[in-house]
Amino acid sequence: MVNKIIIGSDHAGLSLKLKVIEHLESRGVEVVDVGTHTSDSCNYPDYATALCKKIQSGEAELGILICGTGIGMSMAANKHNGIRAACCSDTFSARMTRMHNNANVLCMGERVVGAGLACDLADLFIDTEYLGGRHEARVQMLADIETSN
Ligand code: RB5
Repeated sequence: MVNKIIIGSDHAGLSLKLKVIEHLESRGVEVVDVGTHTSDSCNYPDYATALCKKIQSGEAELGILICGTGIGMSMAANKHNGIRAACCSDTFSARMTRMHNNANVLCMGERVVGAGLACDLADLFIDTEYLGGRHEARVQMLADIETSN
């Protein structure tokens, strides 16, 4: 389990983000919120970038991004070097993407998952360890794609 995460959302993910923050803090996880902090309409790539910069700098190992669907956030996050973002709405995927893909950003959609499921997904994501081993060469191939394009 990690004891610190970065979290971010756009306006469409703000309400769910606040519930996930409350849940994680109740577990003793330190949460750094990169915004948005209001319900004013905003652009999800801005918050994906703010979060990814903090993961890249080593401020925390893992992050959570929430927008309406989770899809825009995952697309934006995966443009950043070293970021492996997974958009999940089921617990199996949230666990497996840590174990096999070493995902470091979980993306969720406020218009897709309820608060209870979102908190379970967050718990699984931060509590599950990457397996390494046979998966390492494949994860390295993801990094190689970044350098070859
Ligand atoms: C905002 O309306 C919405 O498009 C955004 O939150 C996200 O779902 C995009 O992928």
